[in-house]
Amino acid sequence: MPQLLDYPRYAWQVWRGDRSRGEADLDASRRADLAGLVDFSHPLTILDLANGRLRPQYAILRAQGHRVIGIDLVNRPERSWQGRAYAVARALYANRLRLPSSAMHSDALVCGDVGRLPFPDATFDLVTSVAAFEHFLDVPSVVAEVARVLKPGGVVWTAIHVFTAPSGGHNLSFAEVPLRHMPPGVEPWDHLRQRRLPFSVPLNEWRIRDYLAAFTRHFDVLRHYCHMREGEHLLTPEIEAELAARGYTRDELTCGAYVIIARRPG
Ligand SMILES: C[S@@+](CC[C@H](N)C(=O)[O-])C[C@H]1O[C@@H](n2cnc3c(N)ncnc32)[C@H](O)[C@@H]1O
Repeated sequence: MPQLLDYPRYAWQVWRGDRSRGEADLDASRRADLAGLVDFSHPLTILDLANGRLRPQYAILRAQGHRVIGIDLVNRPERSWQGRAYAVARALYANRLRLPSSAMHSDALVCGDVGRLPFPDATFDLVTSVAAFEHFLDVPSVVAEVARVLKPGGVVWTAIHVFTAPSGGHNLSFAEVPLRHMPPGVEPWDHLRQRRLPFSVPLNEWRIRDYLAAFTRHFDVLRHYCHMREGEHLLTPEIEAELAARGYTRDELTCGAYVIIARRPG
């Protein structure tokens, strides 16, 4: 659950450019991972799965000249104070990323459910998704839909916020990535141990092996790796032993973000 100071801290991070640098780093990682698999030298048709209110990757890929479509439940007009705050944040992101403001335009955003993609078969060269799969409550349907809308030989690149990480319950400071400091009175990995803190967003609680199994059913999984380590300093020998007895490894407990790269056969 966001703490009182999280909102100003988050706004400061957006203002200072830390957040947009994180997005630029993700883009750079994606390009490096996909070199040799996807030809970025000509415009691609790309789906940003669950683009989010700030739609950073949608904008970054559009600014590179690709035809990008974003789909998310939040893609609808919002006239509340929150909607206006997001508009300001988007403008700041575009500014810090040196994107033309047109990159953020909503003209290619679809309001919809990722489990029932409203696109014809074999539409996209690339599907990308950041910090979203952990929120999908029917992952097998989403993975099957992604396979359907990708062209044969098309690739999916996804970065998943891992549930077993210290911040995996999404109820600790959302303003700190990776999570370094525990709020007073909160035990590390509370969401796997005592579950005292309620989750503030829907989470499927999947583990890395579950995602890999789901992707393997429809794709050739080409590579998967931990993209961001988190909380190694929080994992005391006592906590590690307690969670090891329940089958959690040090590796998964300290992985904040996991990348899966997979290709549709054909
Ligand atoms: C944490 S946000 C990530 C957004 C964005 N990718 C980013 O990195 O800023 C997760 C997004 O998943 C979307 N989402 C969750 N379940 C969805 C569903 N079934 N269909 C479409 N969008 C969904 C939410 O609306 C939310 O915008």
